[in-house]
Amino acid sequence: MARPARALLNAAALLHNFQQVRQRAPGARVMAIVKADGYGHGAVWVARTLAAADAFGVASVEEALALRDAGIAKPVTLLEGFFEANELPLIVKHGLSPAIHCEEQLRMLETTRLDRPLSVWIKLDTGMHRLGFAPQQFAAVSARLRAIKAIKEIRVMSHFANADNPRDAATRAQLEEFNRQAGDTGLERSLANSAGIVAWPDAHLDWVRPGIMLYGGAPLVGQPAQALELRPAMTLVSSLIAVHRFKCGDPIGYGSEFHCPLDMTVGIAAVGYGDGYPRRMPASAPVLVNGERVTLAGRVAMDMIALDLRTQPQAKIGDPVVLWGEGLPADEVAGHAGTISYELFCQLTARVPRLPTA
Ligand SMILES: Cc1ncc(COP(=O)(O)O)c(C=O)c1O
Repeated sequence: MARPARALLNAAALLHNFQQVRQRAPGARVMAIVKADGYGHGAVWVARTLAAADAFGVASVEEALALRDAGIAKPVTLLEGFFEANELPLIVKHGLSPAIHCEEQLRMLETTRLDRPLSVWIKLDTGMHRLGFAPQQFAAVSARLRAIKAIKEIRVMSHFANADNPRDAATRAQLEEFNRQAGDTGLERSLANSAGIVAWPDAHLDWVRPGIMLYGGAPLVGQPAQALELRPAMTLVSSLIAVHRFKCGDPIGYGSEFHCPLDMTVGIAAVGYGDGYPRRMPASAPVLVNGERVTLAGRVAMDMIALDLRTQPQAKIGDPVVLWGEGLPADEVAGHAGTISYELFCQLTARVPRLPTA
């Protein structure tokens, strides 16, 4: 029998979430964000499933080429552009659209002979202060790009810093700054990530860029994904590989951090930090065994976790375990480890088979 830790991928859920994007932003085209291997789901699986997306967004040429190698022909945006001029031949060859966010990239474009047409995005920094030209540089940057013969299309984007909090005034300020600079240029514009799609309809503009909401993660702080009609695209499952009866006071696992408070049943499930289940997950973290919530008993190990099965003394080897996904929101689990569902998904390691189920 194969090791039972696996990520079940639900194409119907991914498509449902994509439809939620379409419904919320009916006038915008959709650039599905599939960087970091589709937030851990498998970028090729995501892109094939979301064949109806208008474009895909990735973080590097390597990520883009993985899509092209799989036969994905849709437009692909490099959200950070290129890092070295020697990437430009591949970019034009494969018709990738880099974001241009700094003077150095602009100069590389101006000094490299491009033998095929290129579409670019100008990235403006409207307040996140991560990547992008200052808004007042926009006119000069677009004039320099227009002067490059091979550039056939220029679009403009920016990124929100705080859109996950609908009460944060910084988002309105970013939107206004963006429109002030890029509003009347006739160029296609893009601003909204998942939080922008859900909470900031004015930010939908020409292109939206959903990431986490496609995967069923919560885009807004304090609002469960389910309340926004999003469904988990991934369920991380395993099963019990040992079940023990221990005496009151018996220690469990590394460091003997957990001592049985009673005579009790403890289950061992085959999943651990070697799979991407965070080692820092505290004992209060919920796990489903046979569809019922239990909690951890002691430290997460590389390949295994121990579970407090006081409520399931009848549990047995082979019983199903869910770490997050269907029936157990990834955001709730992530919260116990002080993180967000994005990180849980992205940290799932290569040894966990991704199994499309629908
Ligand atoms: C430039 C850009 N656009 C869109 C996204 C998608 O964001 P989210 O996953 O919050 O929807 C990201 C993700 O970090 C991003 O960096």
